[in-house]
Amino acid sequence: MTDQVRVVEVGPRDGLQNEQNIVPLEAKVQLVNDLSAAGVSYIEAGSFVSPKWVPQMANSDALFKEIKRTEGVTYAALTPNLRGYQSAQENNVNEVAVFAAASEAFSRKNINCSIEQSIDRFKELATQARHDGIALRGYVSCIFACPYDGRTNTKVLIDTVNKLFELGCYEVSLGDTIGVGTAYDTKQTLSALSPYFDANTLALHLHDTYGQALASVYAGLEAGIRCFDASVAGLGGCPYAKGATGNLATEDLVYLLHSGGFNTGIDLDKLISAGDMISGVLQRKNLSAVANARKTSD
Ligand code: HMG
Ligand code: MG
Repeated sequence: MTDQVRVVEVGPRDGLQNEQNIVPLEAKVQLVNDLSAAGVSYIEAGSFVSPKWVPQMANSDALFKEIKRTEGVTYAALTPNLRGYQSAQENNVNEVAVFAAASEAFSRKNINCSIEQSIDRFKELATQARHDGIALRGYVSCIFACPYDGRTNTKVLIDTVNKLFELGCYEVSLGDTIGVGTAYDTKQTLSALSPYFDANTLALHLHDTYGQALASVYAGLEAGIRCFDASVAGLGGCPYAKGATGNLATEDLVYLLHSGGFNTGIDLDKLISAGDMISGVLQRKNLSAVANARKTSD
């Protein structure tokens, strides 16, 4: 197993999508630029979804036009349908992600269709992306539990992950959307998935509502996972999962990974500055324990 870990920074998208007040475009652009300057090599910068559903992401086209592109950095976006994909492509997005769920109720609340319909809807998008040579990532939400349906059925999870790979996703990110899972849940779920999928093709996308995300990362590392999604300053939440807080803070993830000898290419101090900048704009405390510890020990 490699000592290289990919960190997928989802702060500008997952972190900001739930903000009620529209965050100024300049602040979003600054955040993306600060992240790339900190050495983050994969940034999910926005989404091309219905502005009626997620108003905060409505200016993703302007964002992609304004950001400074750094060589070697992948600037990605969420796309729920062909229309979203076409907008992403017009704005020179390097990579797109489709998002399904392992829970029927969440699928309906989030994208207004059943799991099966969502996979069908992604087919034309996937075909077009393949034709254009744009890499496709997949998400599955509610891997442990759903805010509406309760505990997730592992068979539904396996089936949904499988369908995303069949569509042509090179990697599927497993989302604990409401942040309820523990390291034990992560170990158990990854073990259930292991006969079907290579750990190298899976990522963990952990929200930190119950403060369990970092322990689950460790369980993921032990199971061979080498890609983790995180959100700088622990920003975020999902508009369709009430009570869900932000993702695991990227600063905390990077601190853990570096202590284990994993290489991320990220400069932790610059990352903390990026988190402080956006927390200042939002007038909110930085939720990264590592960022706060560094400041009190200064
Ligand atoms: P719908 O209402 O069923 O479909 O929405 P529609 O086709 O009737 O479209 C509704 C309106 O949106 C129409 O406009 C469309 O033209 C427009 P109107 O005619 O009413 O003026 N529209 C679009 N506009 C811009 N870009 C588009 C687009 N598509 C349609 N791409 C739809 C279906 C999927 C569009 C909607 O439900 C949607 O946009 N949902 C997105 C919800 C979302 O972004 N959720 C958060 C991201 S997922 C997440 O956070 C989880 C994750 O982090 C992993 C985890 O934590 O588990 C990834
Ligand atoms: Mg999420």
